[in-house]
Amino acid sequence: MTGAMDAIPLVDLKAQYRAIGPEIEAAIARVLERQSFINAAETRAFEEEFAAFCEAPEAIAVSNGTTAIELILNALGVGPGDEVITVSHTFMATVGAILRAGATPVMVDVDPDTWTMSPKQVARALTPRTKALLPVHLYGNPADVPAIAAAAPGIPIVEDAAQAHGARLHGGAVGSGSRAVSYSFYPGKTLGAYGDAGAVTTADPDLALRLRRLRDHGRFGAKYEHATVGTNARMAEIQAAVLRAKLAHLPEWIAARQRLCARYEERLAGAGVRLQRIEEWAEPTWHLYVILHPERDRLAGALRERSISTGVHYPIPVHRQPALAGVEHRVQDGELPVTDELAASCLSLPIYPELGEEGVDRVAEAVHDVLAGAHV
Ligand SMILES: Cc1ncc(COP(=O)(O)O)c(C=O)c1O
Repeated sequence: MTGAMDAIPLVDLKAQYRAIGPEIEAAIARVLERQSFINAAETRAFEEEFAAFCEAPEAIAVSNGTTAIELILNALGVGPGDEVITVSHTFMATVGAILRAGATPVMVDVDPDTWTMSPKQVARALTPRTKALLPVHLYGNPADVPAIAAAAPGIPIVEDAAQAHGARLHGGAVGSGSRAVSYSFYPGKTLGAYGDAGAVTTADPDLALRLRRLRDHGRFGAKYEHATVGTNARMAEIQAAVLRAKLAHLPEWIAARQRLCARYEERLAGAGVRLQRIEEWAEPTWHLYVILHPERDRLAGALRERSISTGVHYPIPVHRQPALAGVEHRVQDGELPVTDELAASCLSLPIYPELGEEGVDRVAEAVHDVLAGAHV
């Protein structure tokens, strides 16, 4: 609950900790008792529980969401000379992981209404070198994976669900129509660890085995037997224990986010802001609640004066980042107008389960108040 005069942060991890502190402390204490910190009971249990939550046959715990994508591409044999179609309206990690895998990112524009990968643009971007598609379920709103698959028959799809734990599309869980899904458990995520952590889910047992080896120096069986050259991308036991404690609450947290975002939609009606379109087949989990307004910076500043924090996800499209200069990549048609417009006008409003209806009402009233009389 948020009192009328309290500051409203973008995300409130302290409120979450106040609610479940003893469970987290008990989980960490279990690991301290055992003194077993890597690849042990907590990681195995988390993998089983997270796979069940995702309705996926296999979950592989890894060190973070960026590595999750890189390892999936490695395990699929995607590397130098190959192209991976993705979006530029995302966090740098999506494209960075493709580049770290040695492949060439091909960035297409997003749909102007849903803000996720446009299947039409995918069809136009295909070349004989296309080896994977990497849609992002941005803000927790699932991209249309079946439509993307239909636009690129036979090309493996890897879903970046760093922001979409528990989201559903076309009646199935995220991952039901693709080769693999990557997740991030960065602390502020809908399911967040107490440090870096990530996971992959897949229905392909061979891919799962390759990923388990890749994350652990290619080990198989004995400690010093290495089948392939892998890396160290393991999840720490303490993180797995924290994630297990939080996973038990995830369905209720997601339901709270869905309730609060429905209220935002209702309360923001008539404020003159644009909202992300949610297709009738999509069940988003609202990692972020994002509005568009041409005077985004003025709006953010005025909200800050009213003690309301906001964020911008993301202000610079990946294809315009200095990091991409001199690095092999392709931008569909040389320009991504929808991506540019989103970067210039998107504003993330506070969203977290403990925000409460009062918090949403206060933010929405402030948005109305600031924009009343704005010339748009
Ligand atoms: C869309 C997206 N992809 C990938 C990542 C990378 O995850 P991590 O920070 O766990 O490496 C993140 C989160 O930070 C993200 O939001």
